[in-house]
Amino acid sequence: MRRALLGALVVVVALIAAAPASALPCDPIDPSRCLYPWPNDYFRDHGHLALAPSMMPANASGTPIEPADYNWSDGFSPGAAIVTKVPGLDTPAAFARTGSVPITDVARSLDAAAPILVINARTLRRQLIWTELDSNASTPANTALLIHPARNFREGERYIVALRNLRGADGAPLQPSAAFRRYRDRIDTNSLRFERRRPHMEHVFKRLKRAGVKRVVYASSSSVYGDRPELPKREDQPPAPISPYAVSKAAGEQYAAVWTRLYGVETVGLRYFNVFGPRQDPASEYAAVIPRFILFRSLGCSGCHAHASSIHAPDLNGVFNSQVHLSDGRTVIADEAYIRDSILDPRRDVVAGFQPIMPSFKGQLSESQLVRLIAYVKSLTSQPEARQ
Ligand code: HEC
Repeated sequence: MRRALLGALVVVVALIAAAPASALPCDPIDPSRCLYPWPNDYFRDHGHLALAPSMMPANASGTPIEPADYNWSDGFSPGAAIVTKVPGLDTPAAFARTGSVPITDVARSLDAAAPILVINARTLRRQLIWTELDSNASTPANTALLIHPARNFREGERYIVALRNLRGADGAPLQPSAAFRRYRDRIDTNSLRFERRRPHMEHVFKRLKRAGVKRVVYASSSSVYGDRPELPKREDQPPAPISPYAVSKAAGEQYAAVWTRLYGVETVGLRYFNVFGPRQDPASEYAAVIPRFILFRSLGCSGCHAHASSIHAPDLNGVFNSQVHLSDGRTVIADEAYIRDSILDPRRDVVAGFQPIMPSFKGQLSESQLVRLIAYVKSLTSQPEARQ
């Protein structure tokens, strides 16, 4: 699971006590700049920030920034951006493909599948963040990834930054750095310096695993049942998809099952039938049938057309696209236009065997209500191709 989830990863500290292994000049996890990733536990020695001039950025004449003041203040700002360079994640296209949390929607920091996440190492709670690429950079090669706390880090706490499922401009997954892979994949290096940090990295991995995605909920669809006649549908009925959409949903279920087997990720597939709720666009082609049903009821249609009704009115189930015999002897196909006419001008085509008692709804419905009603009547005829 760990291997599957983590792409690259850095470790961050904000103002803290306990000491990790001895600091080394540059962090091999991000070899692009000596101080990347920043801020970083790795730059502390026996619990104290230990920056050397050789590690610092230099000006045009090669003179490095003097680190003494930084070492003296001995910590990292709780509001500082986290900076690292991810080769490949350095263009707006790659950033968009990765889908990391933007400044306009910080709530996405909490998404289960967020590609970039910051976790409090003690409480394992997610930190609100937003991310961007360094807009001052002149070329992709020097474009760093910036991860901003959307609220300040808490003093005295450690934070773990995890990057996973990052994508390049072409959408292909990006690989983590060689050094990171050696830690993640437990590849022994024989390097004392490198290995000294391994227990710390193992600890980070363990914390991440505990904070990790425990369960992936896969949004499948009732369409995987196809047109199996059995009702009610049961999970143990074998899938019988009969549309490309349903095939893709059924395939997703299989992928989820294989992921569980290979990586131990617990997955759950929910076969949604009709989903109904706020923010639903009732005019959408895929809008749920439930709002239409509510309209059908609220207009009183069900008072006559429901099974249990004492009024003698035709059963609308299966009527769409069927042949209807009319009282004047004609036979018509109940297409959309017919249903529309039935609602607006019921006297025109009276169904054989019924009294012409249906009131006209002309002038009482908006066009959009009429469209929804027609869609509802259509949905009463099973349409296996429909998305559900
Ligand atoms: C007072 C009872 C009554 C109400 C209310 C009513 N209907 Fe009807 N409806 C009938 C009857 C009776 C028929 C068959 C006679 C006819 O064709 O007019 C019918 C026919 C139809 C048909 C044609 C059915 C077929 O088999 O060809 C459709 C479609 C229909 N109604 C839809 C609606 C809708 C939608 C509403 C609500 C907006 C509605 N009805 C409200 C009684 C009613």
